[in-house]
Amino acid sequence: MYKDSFLTRRRAVKLGFGMLAGAVGAVTTSKAIDLNNQIQALDNPNRKFPVNGKLSLKERATAKGLIYGAAIQYSQLSLDREIATNVKRECGMLIPEWELKWFVGKQPLRPSPYTFDFRAADWMANFAKTHGLLLRGHTLVWHESLPPWFEKTVNNQNAKRFLEEHIKTVVQHYAGKIHSWDVVNEAINLSDGRSDGLRKTPWLKFLGSDYIELAFRLAAEADPQALLVYNDFGLDYDTSKDEAKRNAVLKLLERLKTKGTPIHALGIQAHLTANEAKFSPSKLRQFLRDVASLGLKILITEMDVVDKKLPVDIKVRDRIVAGVYEDYLSVVLDERAVIAVLTWGLSDRYTWLSHFQPRRDRAAVRPLPLDANFRRKLAWNAIARAFDQAPRR
Ligand code: XIL
Repeated sequence: MYKDSFLTRRRAVKLGFGMLAGAVGAVTTSKAIDLNNQIQALDNPNRKFPVNGKLSLKERATAKGLIYGAAIQYSQLSLDREIATNVKRECGMLIPEWELKWFVGKQPLRPSPYTFDFRAADWMANFAKTHGLLLRGHTLVWHESLPPWFEKTVNNQNAKRFLEEHIKTVVQHYAGKIHSWDVVNEAINLSDGRSDGLRKTPWLKFLGSDYIELAFRLAAEADPQALLVYNDFGLDYDTSKDEAKRNAVLKLLERLKTKGTPIHALGIQAHLTANEAKFSPSKLRQFLRDVASLGLKILITEMDVVDKKLPVDIKVRDRIVAGVYEDYLSVVLDERAVIAVLTWGLSDRYTWLSHFQPRRDRAAVRPLPLDANFRRKLAWNAIARAFDQAPRR
């Protein structure tokens, strides 16, 4: 799934620059020189990212009728005062990174087929309420983070009951407190070979392709106030793979809208890759326009920038990563249907990419707006500049 897309991109990059930088007495090869040229092309030493004033990302987003937020884990937010302080300062929205999935971490939401454990998510919902943050739910229906009991328990006969009970119970529990739900996550996977592009998940197997519409209808019934979102990744670049996925997602959204499904927005995860040069502003703009023309809003839901193929030098890496943030957001925020920019984490101290996309030279990855000591990086400047330059909603 999301790792596959990075694997594909890795094939596009012949030799990890990080390997080269880390190796002593590395022998330069034409490949490395080629990659070095690519990196040089990505880096502009004269690009400075100046920012006016001291406003936070939350304040700059709010000034334009936008929302900025971040995904954080309960264990981080409840135990690390520094992340809590910075979330309060920088974020207008909080997304529990684990706590509203079926089964992640030490206190999973679904410990057994017959129980729900809301303690961690309730703590985060209370944190959000106490500090005036909006709360976003991620995610009701996904093929990942399923409980260990799922495979031996859920089947053709009872899958609909499990889906109905999960969505009704969880969405009703937070009814009126949630800005938006990722109702269905990552349901498109073209490499599964279906003509409709749907990923072969247990939900598809047991319920057929109507499971997506059913999930949205159940969520709408349980909380008519929540914005209901379809969320996916791999929609960003001018590659044949991303273009095909954009088309498949658009067709899914059109099918859902034609059936009168209560779907309100598309979530674009935007897990970007710093050394991916194939970025077409015009193609991305067209996709956003096509989605908006269905009457849907758009949220950038999980933004971060993988820096594993960049030089180890922090100044160069941070400048390239910041350029990716600003170049992408300057396109995206031109589309007025875009209502939120959410990063998947706030500080490099806590990023899933440390495990999912580590650097070969083992240097700490730097994908997010704040560094591991919560200092604002050029990526922070880039996001701030994008908000400052965005048209008001
Ligand atoms: C990731 C979490 O950040 C990890 O901690 C967890 O181990 C796996 O899931 N797309 C999504 C998110 O929709 O739910 C994923 O989050 C990252 C990719």
